[in-house]
Amino acid sequence: MKIGIYPGSFDPITNGHLDIIERASKLCDKVIVAVLQNPSKNPLFTLEERVYLIEEAVKPFKNITVDCFSGLLIDYAKKNDAKVIIKGLRAVSDFEYEFQMALMNRKLAPDVETIFLMTSSENSYLSSSLVKEVAKFGGCIEGLVPASTKKEIFKKIKL
Ligand code: PNS
Repeated sequence: MKIGIYPGSFDPITNGHLDIIERASKLCDKVIVAVLQNPSKNPLFTLEERVYLIEEAVKPFKNITVDCFSGLLIDYAKKNDAKVIIKGLRAVSDFEYEFQMALMNRKLAPDVETIFLMTSSENSYLSSSLVKEVAKFGGCIEGLVPASTKKEIFKKIKL
């Protein structure tokens, strides 16, 4: 069984993430969306909330599970017998850091391959940070995040 891991902060999940998840689900037998527990960041949503929002959004897909992890991604991949790490790439600006991480992860575990899926053009400008900023100042985030996530963002920022 080919198990892929799609890691990230997902604070919160966007339609860009969802697009990558859907496409990855066709490439792997099972995709684990793995939410990073990162105490050094100050997320809008708690770890549990981020996991819940992803679970709601991926309900239509059958071969996706949602989990969280801390520590090294590669250790989490080994623990789950995953041989593929899936990453989304938007612009050239993503490339440098992603390239560095992919090479480091390969150094740590040569049998785990990182594969990059190019963003769909309609999501190429989309990021969780921008969505939160637009929402915070009352802008429209329709079509940028799953409907269930949109509701929770507005609840959080009390608009
Ligand atoms: O959504 P993000 O914040 O861009 O995701 C970054 C993430 C979680 C993929 C990356 O920070 C990560 O893999 N962190 C786990 C720690 C780790 O393995 N670090 C070494 C990477 S080479």
